Amino acid sequence: MIRQKIVAGNWKMNGSKESIFSLLSGLLEMGDSNSEVVIAPSFPYLSQVNALVDGGCLVLAAQNISDEVKGAYTGEVSASMLGDFGVKYVLLGHSERRAIYRETDSVVAAKVKVALEFGLTPMLCIGETLEERESNQTLSVCERQIQVVIDAVGIEAFENMVVAYEPVWAIGTGLSASAEQAQEVHQSIRAFLAKSSESVSQKVQILYGGSVKASTCSALFQMPDVDGALVGGASLDAKEFIAIVKAAG
Ligand code: G3P
Repeated sequence: MIRQKIVAGNWKMNGSKESIFSLLSGLLEMGDSNSEVVIAPSFPYLSQVNALVDGGCLVLAAQNISDEVKGAYTGEVSASMLGDFGVKYVLLGHSERRAIYRETDSVVAAKVKVALEFGLTPMLCIGETLEERESNQTLSVCERQIQVVIDAVGIEAFENMVVAYEPVWAIGTGLSASAEQAQEVHQSIRAFLAKSSESVSQKVQILYGGSVKASTCSALFQMPDVDGALVGGASLDAKEFIAIVKAAG
């Protein structure tokens, strides 16, 4: 099964009006790519970025949504609002949301359900901590994080979703999983999805995230079950991010 690669940049809580203009100016010089190139700015900058990339080769993602649709939820952002800014994807279940903001598997599943209801494509982030890896819980953690979403929205919904495997111990550490480590987990994720639907499992794009750098990503992209990357720090440097996109082919 041929799956288009996705290279997504998660800008996290970084940027200013000026720095984003400068970063985007660099990215817009990239030209077309065989991969889908996605950028996820913070909410305040979605309008500015949408205006600058509108109709171009860059695709917009949000970094989160509320599990509620509308109403008295101060500070929250609804999935229904993101369509006004040309947003296609939404990152959900990121380890920083799970660890820092205590988002449980069931909250993540509820957010996936709302995202799908409003036509957004969830990028479901999963992954184990170093302690879980060292105690051989990597696959059970990933499977648990996926199963709760299958239970909430059904396996067919995964045709309109992306999975991002982000080992927590590789995020922001400079210590990426090796291509072989990533392939092993991605293959197991796909096999787990295949238990519910073989056809869906072959369609789902599975991205790797965790200290992806231009100098190390080529080996990752050569792995049969690695369908792209979810990039953090390196996505804030236009030249580095473009080099990662080029490496994806
Ligand atoms: O969502 C991607 C992010 O968590 C990875 O961050 O800085 O390790 O590439 P980084």
